[in-house]
Amino acid sequence: MNKMTRNEIVALYERGKKEGFAIPAFNYSDIWDMMAIVKAAEEAQSPVLLMCDPPTYEEFGGRLCAAMADVVIERANVPVIHHLDHSESPENCLEAMEYGFNSVMMDASNLPIDGNIAAVHKVVEKAREKGVFVEAEIGRIRGDSSYETSYTGDDYLFLLEEAKRLVEESGCDSLAIGIGNAHGFYQGEPEINFGKLKEANDNLDIPLVLHGGTGIPRDVVRKCIAGGIRKVNVGTAVYCAYMNGAREKLMADGENQFTYDVMEVAMDSVKKEVAYWIETCNAVGKAAK
Ligand code: 13P
Repeated sequence: MNKMTRNEIVALYERGKKEGFAIPAFNYSDIWDMMAIVKAAEEAQSPVLLMCDPPTYEEFGGRLCAAMADVVIERANVPVIHHLDHSESPENCLEAMEYGFNSVMMDASNLPIDGNIAAVHKVVEKAREKGVFVEAEIGRIRGDSSYETSYTGDDYLFLLEEAKRLVEESGCDSLAIGIGNAHGFYQGEPEINFGKLKEANDNLDIPLVLHGGTGIPRDVVRKCIAGGIRKVNVGTAVYCAYMNGAREKLMADGENQFTYDVMEVAMDSVKKEVAYWIETCNAVGKAAK
């Protein structure tokens, strides 16, 4: 497939709104799980977002990530968006765009609102020139994809007035909102604040993004989609499926195995996990325009 332009990505989010699905978005670690994610999307004929998280970007560099994704996208028979996830620096976003990422997240949600707006605006200016889609974040989405975390209190929920200002003044294309979601595994049942989601959906004319998909039950994710969520981020569940698949094969057949034989099983494990989330997002069969 050709690389999608910002206009095409905007149109896909709009189709999600009309047809009641969210774009499933997955963090990758390397080329094996990147390929597994896209294979699962092809089998389900779903659009998909490949997300490069900061440690992967740091380790591989933007050029290598973009080069791998470009070939995978070119070969894919479904729409695939390549996204830089949780970049806390405008410079990384600008660099990723130069290398060919067609979607970036400028996450300045840890800054006071004026700083958040300024950072996102800086990225949006360049992104418009290059036809790249920009996600911003409001409210804090706690935790780190690699460890367990829990939901407590309302401190992390977004404030509507700030969200309105961020959307209007930065020009971002989509918005991740803190509604009680958190990265990593939840220690108990996640407590999604549907009142806050409704407030965002009623007052902000922009696709809303749910981070911290791992551990949120399917019916709760679908309720979020019905409430206006248009992209669901899943990281930890993909990483764990990948490692668990590899571990099971190593445990079953012992040491001294070929990399490919282990990776084949790891990729199958990733594909199963990704297929579950594609279905959860109501995205099966939504690849076609
Ligand atoms: P999880 O690791 O909790 O699925 O969150 C992933 C995410 O939101 C990436 O931005």
